[in-house]
Amino acid sequence: MTILGIETSCDETAAALVQVERGRFRLVRNVVSSQIDIHKEYGGVVPEVAARTHVVRIIPVIAKALRSQKRVARSQKPPCDLIAITAGPGLMSSLSVGVDTARALGYAWNIPVVATNHLAGHLYANLLPSVRGCQFSNFKFPCVGLIVSGGHTEIVLMKAHGRFDLIGETQDDAAGEAFDKIATMLGLSYPGGPALSALAERGDPAAFDFPRGMEHSGDFNFSFSGLKTSVLYFLQKQKASALPRMLPDIAASVQAAIVEVIVQKTVRAAREYDARTVLVGGGVAANRALRSSLRRAISSQVPEASCHVPAAALCTDNAAMIAVAGYFTHHRSGATPLHHLRADPHLPLPR
Ligand code: KG4
Ligand code: ZN
Repeated sequence: MTILGIETSCDETAAALVQVERGRFRLVRNVVSSQIDIHKEYGGVVPEVAARTHVVRIIPVIAKALRSQKRVARSQKPPCDLIAITAGPGLMSSLSVGVDTARALGYAWNIPVVATNHLAGHLYANLLPSVRGCQFSNFKFPCVGLIVSGGHTEIVLMKAHGRFDLIGETQDDAAGEAFDKIATMLGLSYPGGPALSALAERGDPAAFDFPRGMEHSGDFNFSFSGLKTSVLYFLQKQKASALPRMLPDIAASVQAAIVEVIVQKTVRAAREYDARTVLVGGGVAANRALRSSLRRAISSQVPEASCHVPAAALCTDNAAMIAVAGYFTHHRSGATPLHHLRADPHLPLPR
């Protein structure tokens, strides 16, 4: 089976072709057209601008993903068996561009389309072939999933493919949002997460003791807004002339505050729910400190679980992950009738 994934939930226009053969996923082509340079000058994503850019880029991006399959050029057959489209969550105007395009292609090629959840995609990125160790066949349940992106921070429990129970989530900012907002306070360029983590590599994570939000709350929820306020007050108290040389230590200490609480809660969830697999996904999963400390913590404290994090390039938004998640959604619930296909900015994970 060949699946065309399409993703336009935020500021990446993406299409990917994924083949499923004997329980394995093969990534034929993964095309991501980033709008970072456009939104940089505004310091964040401008929804109207993002949607207009998707409109211009979506067809060339899909064409590029399809051209890799040589047989498409020569035959009149549809280039894939199924289209998986991100239906939500995300920005309404951005999602609509992808959904309308997928619906039109579904009609034109007379093939099924499956509405796919973006957050499910982040976790299913772990089944893509460039990812070490995790294949369809060694994916054991129960599975605890950690989603850490620019808009979401959630821990979910999976007892079967394509089914998710939410067991904890942020009460205010998402982890990626905390990285981005604090990076802006430090004068770093957009998007702040990668810039802050690069600076943190040169700093001492124990230099400053920033708050670990909801560390002792006893549940699996998160809070990052207190950290943001604490960093703001801390910066206001420092001499402007001293700040530049303090920046790496501040960045490393902020990163440690975010990473520690995420790792602590994920490990506790994995123990409490007897997880056999821990999957991590979302843009913040590209963070080196988070990847290594979570892997270490799971292997020492929950040795019966295997811990998987996608290759860094597959942590941030892409359409290959949507193709994989779409495969499982289609397997479980079938295709989405084309007249029911719609964008939903608050689409919940399927239960
Ligand atoms: O999953 P994603 O690409 O988009 C959403 O679905 O939100 O995540 C983007 C987020 C941004 O907040 C970005 O700053 C953060 O992921 N991010 C990182 C790193 N790379 C991306 N945060 C910390 N460290 C990184 N290396
Ligand atoms: Zn995302």
